Amino acid sequence: MIRSKIAGTGSALPEKILTNHDLEKLVDTSDEWVKTRTGIAERRIAVSESTLSLSVKASRKALKAAGISAKDVDLIIVGTVTPDMVFPSTACFIQAELGVKPGVPALDLSAACSGFLYALDIADKYIRSGIAKNALVVGVDLFSRIIDWKDRSTCVLFGDGAGAVLLTPTKGKSGILSSHIHSDGNHWKSLYTPGALEPSPFSSETGSGSYEKPFVTMAGNETFKLAVKTISNACIEALESAGLSKEDVTLLIPHQANTRIIKAVRQRLKIPEEKVFLNIQKYGNTSAGSIPIALDEAVRNHPVKRGDVLLLVAFGGGFTWASAAIRWT
Ligand code: UT7
Repeated sequence: MIRSKIAGTGSALPEKILTNHDLEKLVDTSDEWVKTRTGIAERRIAVSESTLSLSVKASRKALKAAGISAKDVDLIIVGTVTPDMVFPSTACFIQAELGVKPGVPALDLSAACSGFLYALDIADKYIRSGIAKNALVVGVDLFSRIIDWKDRSTCVLFGDGAGAVLLTPTKGKSGILSSHIHSDGNHWKSLYTPGALEPSPFSSETGSGSYEKPFVTMAGNETFKLAVKTISNACIEALESAGLSKEDVTLLIPHQANTRIIKAVRQRLKIPEEKVFLNIQKYGNTSAGSIPIALDEAVRNHPVKRGDVLLLVAFGGGFTWASAAIRWT
């Protein structure tokens, strides 16, 4: 049976660090509030970097780690809701920048914080079906560009960053064992960013003030509660479908939105603290970048070994959610 495996990982963070103390000068907040309510101490902000430049940097690292040349990549999927341009897609730009062959399919998909796992799920299916052999999967977001920096309820939460993996086929009982993606558009109003489209010049409402600024808008409490329940269920779904139990998990890599959400999930699932990867304190919520950045740090800085079971889980605007169980090769 052919599965896909993660052959290499990479990540890229902007240079500028914005601490909670820096934010105290912008809005009515405190380091203490942000740390205790979210776990975040600082985040990275793209000033000279772009969605493309961070994606390319992360992708190059993933290709190098996998020992695969860009010329052999035959699929590029990017999860992002903050592309540099409306079109062409970030994936097309990455294709050109890396020198991936013309003709190779390259696409962006929009699933907010679940974007990376959505992209991974689709790439996994392309590899399993034999259509693709070397799939580049990227999760990237620059939420600093869609945040209202006067809104303390959102501006303290997010940061910028990118992560990437290179998927290749593998035979046997390792690689991506299970992967699931879901959405429920009924909850869209709990977490959204209005479009930046100009009002229609043909509308009678043009100029009537109905225009919403393109900033992240979130019902924090509602999102929090649903996130805990949904993430817990998504973990169970990935494990059951892979024929694994909670005890088999070596490392849980959850979307880094709030340490209190992660703690509640860990307690529900009875997964010990030392088996949960956290880097939210350094980067905040990097949306689609969150999981691949965490995965890259886990693989490079921690002893992730052959045979280890990694459980990846995300939740975001849409609502969207996704999970994947991976036996490391
Ligand atoms: O990645 C996609 C998924 N996103 C998430 O999963 C995020 C889910 N939500 C959350 O993480 C949390 O709901 C937040 C961190 C956003 C908020 O934490 P909370 O404990 O739910 O706080 P709250 O919204 O209930 O606000 C409590 C108080 C309020 O004051 P009052 O009304 O009690 O006087 C807020 O105005 O905290 C106030 N507050 C702040 N105070 C200082 C809100 N933001 C801030 C702030 N600094 N930055």
